[in-house]
Amino acid sequence: MKHLISPLDLSLDELSKLLDLASDMYQNPKKYADVCHGKKLATLFYEPSTRTRLSFEAAMLNLGGSVLGFSSADSSSAAKGESVADTIRVISSYADICAMRHPKEGAPYVAATHATIPVINAGDGGHNHPTQTLTDLLTIKQLKGRLDNLTIGFCGDLKFGRTVHSLIEAMVRYPGSRFVLISPKELKVPTYLREEVLDAHQVPYKEVNVLEEIMPELDCLYMTRVQRERFFNEEDYIRLKDSFILDAAKMQYANKDMLVLHPLPRVNEIATEVDNDPRAVYFKQAEFGVYVRMALIMTLLELTVA
Ligand code: CP
Repeated sequence: MKHLISPLDLSLDELSKLLDLASDMYQNPKKYADVCHGKKLATLFYEPSTRTRLSFEAAMLNLGGSVLGFSSADSSSAAKGESVADTIRVISSYADICAMRHPKEGAPYVAATHATIPVINAGDGGHNHPTQTLTDLLTIKQLKGRLDNLTIGFCGDLKFGRTVHSLIEAMVRYPGSRFVLISPKELKVPTYLREEVLDAHQVPYKEVNVLEEIMPELDCLYMTRVQRERFFNEEDYIRLKDSFILDAAKMQYANKDMLVLHPLPRVNEIATEVDNDPRAVYFKQAEFGVYVRMALIMTLLELTVA
């Protein structure tokens, strides 16, 4: 049984094939319109979501399959105290594959150990968000033409930002990756990521707290939201939430081909005046998320086109 719990569950070769498949799906969607006929995807979302849940559902519908699920813990029997292990045992007899988002780190892994269907981690607390990473990799590959020899700036909440953690873990596998980590000191990347991922792979990186002066060095700028839901203390959130705001004035420091990515949702960290800049690709990124999830569903279900 193959699951996707961590961005590292796919080898570089598997990842390359998956991104190629997603790219073909983007260019030739009709070719894949019946691939999942008769198959069901369950979306088990214990935390709010717009893009991840709906792009998973759109992906399965685009493949000719069906979807079922819940969009909050309150509307499931988790509200009555049911465990993830029991839930996934039941869902395994209702669906062929499932995507799970949960506020607790490791919950999708627990589900995978009790499932008889493939489990996809759709975001677990502040830990990982591997399908966002697949989306990010597809976006960069499509729009930059490569995944190696890139300098990526990560800006905002690098402590709790699971999309940042997952993308760093994925990018260190490509030669020539270099990172600039832009955050307030309270929201720096966790120690495990610095020691076990960046230092262990001897990846060059620097930590700064000013955006403008490093903009000319970047091939991609990955903006993130300061996440109110991860803070224990509202005062800290209010103090830190507007630490970095990308606006048209700051974009003047960037290279003409630098990409601005953001997993979305955005709050204040990118001014809406940036949206019409051709380098702002975050809405295109969200669109690519459908195709990469189509490719993932088809791959995990081991389906092929006729
Ligand atoms: N990028 C992302 O995970 O968005 P949602 O929270 O809307 O799913």
